[in-house]
Amino acid sequence: MSHAQIKDALDWRYATKKYDATKKISAQDWETLERSLHLAPSSYGIQPWRFLVIENPEVREKLKPVSWGQSQVTDASHYVVFLYKPEIDTAFVQKYLDRIVEVRQIPAQGLDGLKNMLIENLVKAPEEKIRTWSQRQAYIAMGFLLQTAAMLKIDSTPMEGFDPAAYDKILGLEGSGWKSVASVALGYRHPEDTFQSLKKVRFPEDTVIQYVK
Ligand SMILES: Cc1cc2nc3c(=O)[nH]c(=O)nc-3n(C[C@H](O)[C@H](O)[C@H](O)COP(=O)(O)O)c2cc1C
Repeated sequence: MSHAQIKDALDWRYATKKYDATKKISAQDWETLERSLHLAPSSYGIQPWRFLVIENPEVREKLKPVSWGQSQVTDASHYVVFLYKPEIDTAFVQKYLDRIVEVRQIPAQGLDGLKNMLIENLVKAPEEKIRTWSQRQAYIAMGFLLQTAAMLKIDSTPMEGFDPAAYDKILGLEGSGWKSVASVALGYRHPEDTFQSLKKVRFPEDTVIQYVK
């Protein structure tokens, strides 16, 4: 993509309020969108997240009233709920280390230093600290998904406007070790969505981006 195309995509995207429920994302586009979630970076690379793609229309109907009645939940082509892991235990750390060994074909002993660091910094860290740290990782993946969608000219809505406890209940997450924190609707804007023609409201660039020289 050229600079102009990237800038155009950034300008083109907006938090879509009303989707055309008849338009679906193609399998090829969806595969690329999934890739953006799968390859998103995370602290230590530990990926304390899950991405639930809610395909079942009845489940989406159930989620809507606990999402401030937002129509994106039911009308968008795809609806992804971002889950985070509020607690990192030794088993999860080990699972990650096993995966490194498997993927990179290296001896497990070489990872002892990393293991100790992860146990010290994540397993033994205060609960509240890990919870917010873990949530932050999920938002990185959200950013990747939003930007990839924009580059593909697929509309999206980042969403926090829902009751996470109600989501966890409806999605059967209670006791699973995973909690919902945010969601993204994806699809195609409805021609009547008036938000698409609104000017973007951003503070002046030189006030939010500052140089330390
Ligand atoms: C974390 C997050 C949560 C948001 N939650 C909602 C939401 O629940 N519903 C909604 O319509 N827009 C939601 N938004 C969209 C923002 O209001 C929107 O991104 C912002 O006003 C900037 O406008 P733009 O995205 O159209 O450029 C959310 C955005 C972010 C980043």
